[in-house]
Order: sequence, then structure tokens, then C-alpha cells
Amino acid sequence: MYPFEDGQTFPRNHWYIAACSHELGRALFERTILEERLVFYRKEDGTPVALDGICPHRNLPMAQGMLEGDAVRCGYHGFRFEADGRCTNIPSQSAVPASFATRSYPVLERWQWIWVWMGDPAQADPALLPDMDVAGLGAPGWRADSNGVVHLKSRFSLLIDNLMDLSHIAFVHVKTIGKQLTEAAEVTEENGRVHVIRCTPDQPAEGFHRFLHPRCPGPVDLTTRSDFLGPGLICAGGPYSVMSGTGEPVGRLNFVHGLTPETRHSTHYFPAVSRDFRLDDDGLSQALLGKERSVLAEDIAALEQVEIVVQRQGDTRRELSVLADAGAIRVRRRLIAMMKAELQGAPDLS
Ligand code: FES
Ligand SMILES: [Fe+2]
Repeated sequence: MYPFEDGQTFPRNHWYIAACSHELGRALFERTILEERLVFYRKEDGTPVALDGICPHRNLPMAQGMLEGDAVRCGYHGFRFEADGRCTNIPSQSAVPASFATRSYPVLERWQWIWVWMGDPAQADPALLPDMDVAGLGAPGWRADSNGVVHLKSRFSLLIDNLMDLSHIAFVHVKTIGKQLTEAAEVTEENGRVHVIRCTPDQPAEGFHRFLHPRCPGPVDLTTRSDFLGPGLICAGGPYSVMSGTGEPVGRLNFVHGLTPETRHSTHYFPAVSRDFRLDDDGLSQALLGKERSVLAEDIAALEQVEIVVQRQGDTRRELSVLADAGAIRVRRRLIAMMKAELQGAPDLS
């Protein structure tokens, strides 16, 4: 499926963000992820749980059932499933066949997000979570604020293309960000991550930099970056400001993008903002979250248009690619390699 090869949609053996922490509590919560309907809740001790969202008996959505302690009871014929998926009670008979179970998914709670592993559970290693420290999420010396969750009617790969090629800023975001850096970007790749870095040296202390750092005298070297940290997390950093000449750090700002395929044509989008300066300034957090929401609305409008086009014509239309696409194309290649490896049952490459 565009932009991948025939039959490829998304890699499965990865941690994806399922929900914001505050969305889960002692009520059943349903969300579709990678085309599977899941039900989520918290155990009495607060631990998050993810189970198949459809009852394996006669297919009622589990979200229509009820919690009983750490277990969930289906709302149709009352089968009870424990947090690990085992069926432990069938009201219409005394015995429960030992093999009766529903699927349970590995879940983790990190920073303000619940993460779920949709692939082979045997490979669900917490060490494979994307590096959230790089994105400033929960890292010492950083402040990070969640911007909730947004629904996007486009496939997740279009959002990746968008985030890995920030040359669109001067056009899609002309009203909210304005003219942006046009310098050639450096593209690097290591350990499965892809980085696109643009540096603009010797800039006067004005514009967005001045808004962030009103007392900085400048001039400054400004860097913007797109860091692909995994299929479910991209960090768009910028500006990272340092004093020209001395390189003394002024401050780093990240617009962080959690992306989770909902279906092959839609995405759950979890934006956040992190920074390593003015950590106690709640007003600045609110301003940045508001700015991120306005910018996102512009991306979403464009991506939903692109989705309509690519659904109609698939990959039959030839694309022109330019230097600015280099980072996005590297990421496409990585995703294709991940999906191929999964298909062949080989160990994951990332
Ligand atoms: S459909 Fe769930 S118990 Fe029958
Ligand atoms: Fe954008």
C-alpha cells in the first residue's frame, strides 16, 4: 500500500502509544489500533490492561461489559476474563475449559502515555521503547506537556513524510510559523533512527527565538531537526538555539509527535511539547501547546486531502522527489525493511 510495497501497511513489532494516561481509569475504554479493536482499563492497583476488544464467545464488544475487580465480564453471556486474558467464569456452566482465553496485549505506562505492543508478545521488550529522553519527555532538566490526542483521517506514513520534511513549513504553515529555514539539511542514520538537521548560523535575536528567549541578546545559531525515533515517535526539534561564536546553549524546544495507526487510512496523533528552559513558566506551556494545535490543524487539513488522493490512485502515479525528501525516503526504507523482516519471521532490525 502506498508508499510501501504491495500488502505492506505498518510494522507491528513496536511499541505504539495507545492512550494518554488520563484516558484510562476504572471504566472500559475502547480504541482501534493497527486495525484491531482493543479494550483498555486499569486494575485496582492502577496497572493498565489491554485485551482484545471483541469477546471470543459471540463477538460483543468488550467495552459494553463491566469490570469486576481486575477482570472484565462480557455484557452478553457474562464470560469473565482476567487481566492476562484467561477466562475464569462462564455463568451458564460450572466448568471453564482450560484453553479458553482472550488475547491480552503487553502494555506499559511511560511519561504520560500508555504504550501497547501489537506484534509478537514474545518480543515485547520494554528496552525497545523509543528513546523518550531524546525528546525531552520525562528527562531531567526538561519540561514536557501533553497536547492530548487528535484523530487524523490519513495513513500514518503521510504524517511521517510530513514530519521528516519540514520544507513544507514555509507553505502549509505560512500563517502560523511563516517563512522558515531553507538551508540544505544533513541526513544521518544510526541504530534505526533517522535524523534530518538544518542549522542556520548567525541569526539576530528576533521572531520566534525572541518570543522564547526575550532576554537573549543574540546573534544565535538556530537548528531545527526531525528525529525519527521509531515508527510511533518523531521529535521535531526547533529551534535549538546557541550563541553564535561561543556555542553557549540558550535553549531547546521540541514538538513531539506520537503516531499510532488506527486503520490503514487513519491515525491517532499524540502531540506534545518539551523544552529545557523556562521550566516553571505555565503561560509559556499554554502558548506553545496552543501554537502546536494551530500548526497541527494545518497539517491535518493537508494530509487528509492527500489521503483522499492516494486512496483513489494508489501508487500508480509517479512521484517527483527532491533533496528535501531524503529523510522521509530513508524512513520509508526503514519501515519497509521492518515489515519485510516481520513477514519473514526474522528478528526485528530496529
Ligand atoms: S459474547 Fe461475550 S459472553 Fe457471549
Ligand atoms: Fe507541519
